[in-house]
Amino acid sequence: MYDKIGKRRLPRVAVLRVVLFGLVVVALALPAAGYSGKSSSAQAGELEVFSWWTGGGEAAGLTKVIGIWKKENPNIKFVNATVAGGAGTNAKAVLAQRLSANDPPDSFQGHAGAELQDYIKAGDLEPIDFLYKQAGFGKAMPKQLLSQITYRGKLYSVPVNIHRANVLWFNPKVLRDAGVNGAPKTWAQFIAALEKVDEAGVIPLVVGEQWTNKHLFETVVLSTLGPAKYAALWKGNGSWTSAGVRTAVRRYQQLLGYTNRDAASLTWQDASKLVVDGKAAFNIMGDWANGYFTELKKKANVDYGWAPVPGTAGVYQWLSDSFTLPRGAPNRAAAIKWLTLLGSKRAQDAFNPVKGSIPARRDANARLYNQYLKSALRDWKRDKLAGSLTHGVVASNAWNTAIDTALGQFLQSKNTARFQSGLAAAAKKYR
Ligand code: GAL
Repeated sequence: MYDKIGKRRLPRVAVLRVVLFGLVVVALALPAAGYSGKSSSAQAGELEVFSWWTGGGEAAGLTKVIGIWKKENPNIKFVNATVAGGAGTNAKAVLAQRLSANDPPDSFQGHAGAELQDYIKAGDLEPIDFLYKQAGFGKAMPKQLLSQITYRGKLYSVPVNIHRANVLWFNPKVLRDAGVNGAPKTWAQFIAALEKVDEAGVIPLVVGEQWTNKHLFETVVLSTLGPAKYAALWKGNGSWTSAGVRTAVRRYQQLLGYTNRDAASLTWQDASKLVVDGKAAFNIMGDWANGYFTELKKKANVDYGWAPVPGTAGVYQWLSDSFTLPRGAPNRAAAIKWLTLLGSKRAQDAFNPVKGSIPARRDANARLYNQYLKSALRDWKRDKLAGSLTHGVVASNAWNTAIDTALGQFLQSKNTARFQSGLAAAAKKYR
């Protein structure tokens, strides 16, 4: 028996049984003194924070802030609700289920920009202007960042960092051995370097699971079009069927010819690690890789080097991890304390040097940041900005999913024209 949406319908007796079972479960769950309407976590003095920071470099950053939380709030137990999977690929799906079941955590991770707006428009978040006023965060954070977490005049999250997406990581020794003279700056130099490394028998450009391919692709689009035309693709009248996008898609296809075959089975950490282990020459990845390399005790400019993705010098393709106050947060008071901590200088200067990001606040203590991050602090101030696709700045979750589908098909078919029309169709539907 199937209903219209294809689900199997249960026979009537079974339905009755399910309903009865449900009632018994609910009755047993109610405390004798009467149901207060609050979840058990609030009653137990817990704070449940939802993120996808489980892996190398990421968990370490979060642990730093949890350490401060525990010291300052010994009576509120920190519940670290993480769902593994880089870029939140799995976490976002679990979160969507929880939100639609009215079971929000006390605070969850959401990227500043279009991704955050998804949650705001769905009515999932409380505005937190009051918190900004109390804590004075508005003055400490740059205006262009605040505008990405503002909707209809109200602020909706606390950004904890700024990450950079358009970074080319490389192994200096592998390049030297292959006869490549420093990081490539132009597209032609990049291809020439990849060729040389290929001849030397090392993986020229390592990629991991599909989102890391989308990450690579967005940097190629930025490099090919430049920041203004890139921005117009997301907001405005930039053309997805243009010759520029065609060139970007072809360049991306060309790059794929230099990548490893087992990409789909590698996490971003697996992929980045091949660079510092000398098994791959290049990896295009966000600067969370710097957090991971630091955790691996690798030395900047010895075990790894970095440069802007060829053709993107002077452009900071950015994203920002921010945390929210969900409507119906079981322990709202604790969530407000958590957000207040996250926005503070002490939390940001503890978290970011380990996470591999620069703080969202402008008053960071630069001495705490390693060589790579010092360069990022400098570039963030002077570069032009472009938002990241994979990490939620420029396109909604739904638009991202449509691009994932087109990209997934392309990775199988390698049909550039079909990929471009898939991208154009996605933009038509979601822009
Ligand atoms: C991004 C996130 C980063 C980092 C990365 C890899 O989306 O903003 O903080 O965790 O994914 O998982």
